[in-house]
Order: sequence, then C-alpha cells, then structure tokens
Amino acid sequence: MLIKKRTGIEIPSSEITPKQIYLSRRKFMAGAAALATTAALAACSPASLNQSSDAEPGADQPDATATAGEATAGATTDELGDSLTTFKDVTNYNNFYEFTLDKEDVAPKSADYPTSPWQVEVGGLVANPGVYDVNDLRTRFEQEERIYRLRCVEGWSMVIPWMGFPLAQLLKEVEPASEAKYVRFETILDPEKMPGQSSPWYEWPYVEGLRVDEAMNDLVILSTGLYGEELLPQNGAPIRLVVPWKYGFKSIKSIVKIDLVDEMPTSLWMAAAPNEYGFYANVNPEVAHPRWSQATERRIGELGRRKTILFNGYEEQVAHLYDGMDLHENY
Ligand code: MTE
Repeated sequence: MLIKKRTGIEIPSSEITPKQIYLSRRKFMAGAAALATTAALAACSPASLNQSSDAEPGADQPDATATAGEATAGATTDELGDSLTTFKDVTNYNNFYEFTLDKEDVAPKSADYPTSPWQVEVGGLVANPGVYDVNDLRTRFEQEERIYRLRCVEGWSMVIPWMGFPLAQLLKEVEPASEAKYVRFETILDPEKMPGQSSPWYEWPYVEGLRVDEAMNDLVILSTGLYGEELLPQNGAPIRLVVPWKYGFKSIKSIVKIDLVDEMPTSLWMAAAPNEYGFYANVNPEVAHPRWSQATERRIGELGRRKTILFNGYEEQVAHLYDGMDLHENY
C-alpha cells in the first residue's frame, strides 16, 4: 500500500508529470498509436470505454497488463506496480447519477456545476458538531497524495492519484459519542441543477455509510483533488469520500453532510436494489453480483481483463475489520 505523505521531500505525481506535458505527451502517444496499430487505439478510444462487457464479464481471460497506447500513464504507479490511469480517463469516464447515467457525458453535463463556496455539516452523535468550509478543510488538515485502485461494482477499475486527508482526522475533531456506531454521508440535493435527481428510480439525495471503525481506518480519505489539482465536478467536487477496498459506489461524491448515527444507514443503492447492493460492498472476487461475476475486471486503458483481488488489494490493512464475519452474507 503506497501512502505518500507530504513531508516536503517527496515529489507529487503532478510535478513528476505536469498536466500539460502529460496531455501533450498523451496526444503524441495517441498519434503514434494510430500509426502503429489501430487495435491499440481502439482500446483507449471512447467507443471502447463504452464496451461495457462490464456488466456481464463472462469467462476469465488471461491477465492483461499491457497498456493500450497509454504509456504516459506510467509516470508513476501504485504499490503493486500498476500504472496510473490517465487524467483524461479519470475525468471523462465517470459515474455520477445526479447528472446522467452516461459515463462519458458526466463531464460535459456537470462542467458548470458551482462547487464553491461549499460547506459540510458534521453532526449527529458527536460532542463538537460543526459546519466546515471546504477551503478551511484544505488548510486545516494536511493534504496528502494517495494512489489508490478504484474498482467499480460494474467490473471496471482505475488507479487514481487522489489528494486529500484521512476522514479519521475530521471525526476525531468532532468527537463521536460512544453510542455512535456508523457514519452516514449525504450528497447535495439540488434537482434544479442536477437533472438526474428528478429520476423517480432512486431515493435522493445519494446516501452512503460506513461503520465507525471502518471510517477511522487510515485508508479512508476525504478527497479534494486528484493529479495534484482540485477535483472537477465530475469526480465529486469539491469533496468526496474514497474507500479503496470497497466497490466504487461507496465513495460518495459532493458531500454536504456527515452524521454519526447509532443505526446502519440505508444507502441509495441498498434502497434501490437490496438484493444486489449491501451495506459492506467490500471488493471480493468470490462473491458474485446476482447478475454478473466479480472475479475479473477491466482496467481502463488496458486490453483484456485482469483478476480482481480480495479487498481490492488492501487485505493487510482491512481484513481484521471483518474477523468472524461471513463475507457472503455481509455483501
Ligand atoms: N456519488 C454520487 N453522489 N453519485 C453517484 O452516482 N457513483 C459512485 C461513486 N460515487 C456516484 C457517487 C460510483 S458507482 C462510482 S464507481 C464512483 O463514484 C466513480 O467515481 P469517479 O467517477 O470519480 O471515478
């Protein structure tokens, strides 16, 4: 597990590969790839991003580690040696149902969403409730870079260099009461500017939850940026949760409310399809989604599929949280 803390001597990935160089190099690579092989280009084109065999992954294919014309993503890697997903893919292939269900249309649809000023209310069963301005949070808590894998329940994944700070730091400040067993998170409710929130299929606002001990784990961050830059609306600006060992839907975007509660919160997905989406949602290749296998995943920017790893590769840090629990029952 790679956790890069800002001590003043490490070089953030944004400085290793400044975005302009990264983007122009990527442009060059795209051109080179076009000349070299159309197959490679197809693998990183928007059309191929759309080829979501994701929902029905089918039989396992050989591990695919070759990046498809996306060599620029290799400026640095996660602790497993996996290349970063490109800035372009991280910011143009998104799930944000408040705007649209079309992953490649989230960025344009959310581009003008106002994310400043922005406040987060932290309360519930705590000694020190408070309302925090996101700009204050950025300076109050040291911002670290964390390179994490993000595994979507749909069967695709990315490696993302987030900026942010451990949720535990904020929780310690508000002092949870002993009766507090869970943390409940809420996305902004703004149907006028978020057309997806008019959909009757889901109970808005988007809600997610963690057990308090999960929330206190050092891997859990509140992210305010990625690739060394402030978050863009499509990634959940100005502040979103990142829980790397759980399916991506737990990593709730554009948070306005965090409450410490004594009962397990019902998430938007639990309410929408309780037999398909549970509270825990730990990445687990052994526990299939009722409609598809979770044994493999498609890493965006790669050809083929690779094997999914238990707890998304963070077993050492989090397995103890589930000692004695049946991970099939607690999906
Ligand atoms: N948060 C909100 N509020 N609305 C959403 O639709 N989608 C989730 C999660 N957080 C979602 C959300 C899902 S399914 C995934 S996979 C991740 O965000 C995707 O994050 P990304 O678009 O930054 O990669």
